Amino acid sequence: MSIGLDAIAFHTTKYYVDLEDLADARGVAREKFTKGLGQKKMAIATPLEDTVHLAVNAGRKALSRFGISPGDIGTLVVGTETGVDHSKPVAVYVHQALGLSSDCITYETKHACFGATAALSSAGDWLVSGRARGRKALVIAADIACYGIHTPGEPTQGAGAVAMIVSDRPRLLEFIPDINYSFTKNVMDFWRPLYSKEAIADGHYSVQCYLQALASCLAGAAGMLPDTSRLAACLYHAPFTKMAAKAHLLYYGWCHNTTIERETSAYRHFFEDYQTRTKPWLTLNQEVGNIYTGSLFLSVIDLLRQKRLLPGQLISLFSYGSGCAASITCSKLASDYARWQTHLDPAEDLSARIRLSVHQYEKMKAETAGLSSDFRLNPSDYGMNGHYLYLGNKGHVRQYSDLNQSIRGEEVHYG
Ligand code: CAA
Repeated sequence: MSIGLDAIAFHTTKYYVDLEDLADARGVAREKFTKGLGQKKMAIATPLEDTVHLAVNAGRKALSRFGISPGDIGTLVVGTETGVDHSKPVAVYVHQALGLSSDCITYETKHACFGATAALSSAGDWLVSGRARGRKALVIAADIACYGIHTPGEPTQGAGAVAMIVSDRPRLLEFIPDINYSFTKNVMDFWRPLYSKEAIADGHYSVQCYLQALASCLAGAAGMLPDTSRLAACLYHAPFTKMAAKAHLLYYGWCHNTTIERETSAYRHFFEDYQTRTKPWLTLNQEVGNIYTGSLFLSVIDLLRQKRLLPGQLISLFSYGSGCAASITCSKLASDYARWQTHLDPAEDLSARIRLSVHQYEKMKAETAGLSSDFRLNPSDYGMNGHYLYLGNKGHVRQYSDLNQSIRGEEVHYG
């Protein structure tokens, strides 16, 4: 049985901040953010665009664009580290909004940026177990990356959701379960205490933890994992795109059994390899910023939409979640994957976004931080009229627009 990705879709916020504007406002060289971190823009969520909003909208696109009926979904998992409640999962709001059936297993997973990778693994196991009975699993990675103003993490914010439908007849990517190694270790590199809306990061240590986790996965997967030369693409969790370059340097060096120093001919060979196998698929990450659980899968969308690779070619995927958990695996491009390019390309949505000044962004951040238990948001104050917007709380109950409008009846355009 072949298990893999049958559909994928992305949703992000209406507004963004340009990182050159942020660098100017923070008094640092623009190249630090654009070259040193490798980022261009970061998506900024209004208070109306909470995790539920992002997840619902990505889920709607995945179902409608790939012609999948809500009744075909037997498992729904939302991987997030931006939950909206200690108890009630984001997934149950999504379940209602998408009109999924009452016998659909529905829950939330958390392990920092690793949550959706864990969910994909469980979805695959559910399909193999025989309990799916012809149905598919919907896994949504949805997050709002939020660091304090003036902190080193500030230029690595972002927001968005990637919805993925896993089936036993995948039209996009086939998972290769024989190539898989996982790693876990309790470290304090990045976390968000229950009392804080912003993440706390020991930034340079977190980069080390990421690379140590990758090194452990490479060592553990020795004998299973192909050399980079046999892979058409090497994708990595990308909190900022330079992190993927650091990761590829490690993988490339591991394949050649050496540590590669800068300004050497080995480094030049690595750089060519990086330009071919990793860099081409980082353009969406540069435009959106860190979306935590969904960052790796943003690169997957970028790869699928560019249609540069051939069916059957192999790609590696490295997932890292702070705290920390990691895994490395491979997938194969499905025979007809290129046919779906226009259905999954978010280019139009991205070009319709609106640029915020740094002052407007700081004001929006302060407003979101100041929201208390019961309040009412007015979408027109934010120039918003999107689907399933978060309108505030009434009697401690979250309120959304279009609460009773499910996906049924939406135009299906596929084939
Ligand atoms: N021109 C070009 N490059 C410049 C430059 C300039 N004028 N000035 C600085 N740079 C380069 C630096 O040399 C450095 O590059 P290298 O890493 O290749 O040496 C890069 O820009 C960044 O500079 P600093 O290291 O001085 O930056 P910083 O200390 O202000 O912050 C950071 C960097 C620690 C990553 C910070 O952004 C951060 O804390 N981010 C949040 C945590 C994070 O994303 N960690 C990643 C691993 S954990 C993970 O992956 C989970 C997750 O999603 C959070």
